[in-house]
Amino acid sequence: MCGIIGYVGPRECRDLLLEGLRRLEYRGYDSAGLSLLSEEEIGSVHAVGNLERLRDAVADGNGHLRGSTGIGHTRWATHGRVTEANAHPHSDTTNRVHIALNGIVENWSELRQRLAATGAEFTSETDAEVVAHLIAHHLNGEQAVPASPSASRDLAEAVRLAYNDLRGHYAFVAMSADHPGVLVGARKECPLVVGIGEGESFIASAIPAFLAETRNVQLVQDGEIVELSPSGSRFIEPVSGAPIERAIEEVDWDDEAAEKGGYESFMLKEIHEQADAVAETLAGRLDSEAIDLGDIGIPDEFLRNVRRVVIVACGTSYHAGLVGRYSIETWARVPAEMDVASEFRYRNPLLDERDLVIGISQSGETADTLAAMRLARERGAKVLSITNIMGSQATRDADGVIFTRAGLEIGVAATKTFVAQVIAMQLFALKLAGLHGTLGPEVTTTLITQLRRMPHMIAELVDSVDEQARRIADQFKDCGFFLYLGRHVGLAICLEGALKLKEISYIPTDAYAAGEMKHGPIALLDENTPVICVATDSPVLDKMMSNIAEVQARGAHVVAVATEGTHVDAEEVIKVPRTDWLLQPALAIIPLQLVAYYIARARGLNVDQPRNLAKTVTVE
Ligand code: F6R
Repeated sequence: MCGIIGYVGPRECRDLLLEGLRRLEYRGYDSAGLSLLSEEEIGSVHAVGNLERLRDAVADGNGHLRGSTGIGHTRWATHGRVTEANAHPHSDTTNRVHIALNGIVENWSELRQRLAATGAEFTSETDAEVVAHLIAHHLNGEQAVPASPSASRDLAEAVRLAYNDLRGHYAFVAMSADHPGVLVGARKECPLVVGIGEGESFIASAIPAFLAETRNVQLVQDGEIVELSPSGSRFIEPVSGAPIERAIEEVDWDDEAAEKGGYESFMLKEIHEQADAVAETLAGRLDSEAIDLGDIGIPDEFLRNVRRVVIVACGTSYHAGLVGRYSIETWARVPAEMDVASEFRYRNPLLDERDLVIGISQSGETADTLAAMRLARERGAKVLSITNIMGSQATRDADGVIFTRAGLEIGVAATKTFVAQVIAMQLFALKLAGLHGTLGPEVTTTLITQLRRMPHMIAELVDSVDEQARRIADQFKDCGFFLYLGRHVGLAICLEGALKLKEISYIPTDAYAAGEMKHGPIALLDENTPVICVATDSPVLDKMMSNIAEVQARGAHVVAVATEGTHVDAEEVIKVPRTDWLLQPALAIIPLQLVAYYIARARGLNVDQPRNLAKTVTVE
């Protein structure tokens, strides 16, 4: 995920900004940039690659870049390639307004056309650049280029007007050459925090960026604008422009805690980032009646005639693929198969040019998945990659790509990238259904409306089930074995829940299709066995209920994950919000991640770096 830092005060701030960006490096980035305001001119430097490259670029300018008001950014590309021109900060046509933005502006294309019609000249492929032009447009009395160089409005007012034109989820910071000593930030869902120092102020996407300078923090809430000057901050409500009171809080984190955003581990932080990851993965891809994935590199004409979809992946990505397989078959009525990449590549698979092979890989570097994708291409199939990493090998070995936009995942156990993969697969399945005309407009609109609400549902769920997950973990932390049972997409969630528990707690687990239980695994059940049952809403819920009754008859403990409003007769029931049944997986996994997490923590284990595991598996 991208990082923002801004400073306004008496100090020469170039190195302060570079240091702030260094402290945000853990979030992941592919390019970076700085803009500084000095003597009513803004200088800017961009670089592709790591911060060393940015430092070199700054040094090449012979110290040209100076100023005591400035902004910096690390970019994780979402719209537009990884190039210097696409790196932030972005500026308006006259180079008077600069902005650094995290997140996505959904209506960028329509704004770009509107602004271009008033004379704005665009220099990047990004959605973010429109924000600089839009603020300039409001500063200049609704013109892209001012009649006279003096600004007519104050910067905060221009940002407020711009904010009301924007759709999407983002956080940005703006500076203007005509407003020295002022920065203005705005937050719509993406995080933004203010740091108040002695005669100086900071703004950033995360506290670690300025923690070495001040521990006095003000949290910018969703839907707020903040104006910063060396003497402090002024919070503004964006619709009315009314002032908002905001207390200063003191944070007592050390550097390590700060990197984890105050969470005790990266894994817990990333579980809490799932709402954001899903919001980013959905951003700009939902029209009211259809899915717009943009140019994914696979022509619609091919997808309309596709004979079969074959999905290949490893580990957690395989489980996301399973959800995708069910979604494709149910919604698009296209035959879909799922295989473990390391099996697929050695089974001499039958493929031809009518087939689409989808390789899912968070890292885009997993050896078996890449080999399976290459094999598919050799045999004439079209290959689509679903990955989280721009420029990864998977993007080069595929005909087309859909990016999950979950941001960097540091915890070895995949959490937010899994949920983003599930959503990306479901977007693709809906697109395919649209091309095959298999879902009526009403069903499509309902699914799209529910997908739109998914980030909010996830955010609420992560908080609301936390206490229950801790309690369940405490009750079962010493058990020697866990069984997971589910059907259909519930089975995919069981497989993923069981993998999470075994990889971070080292407790043996098994995940089974509930209908198979009577064919063997039932022998494992006794009064000491916890059985996690995914019993969310589905056409096979009655069957799942019978399986739960069978488990209880053997004295085992049932922890069921069920949909709100459904009665499930179990010792412990975790409720997830009601949605269309096929959208339940992205919700149902959350309590299972948390239960696994708290069991591992109760056993005193390092959840971020489990034994014998690496984040990226590049060997065969
Ligand atoms: C488990 C986990 C792994 C990965 C697998 C594939 O938590 O993270 O099972 O899912 O190694 O990795 P990618 O998705 O990078 O191909």
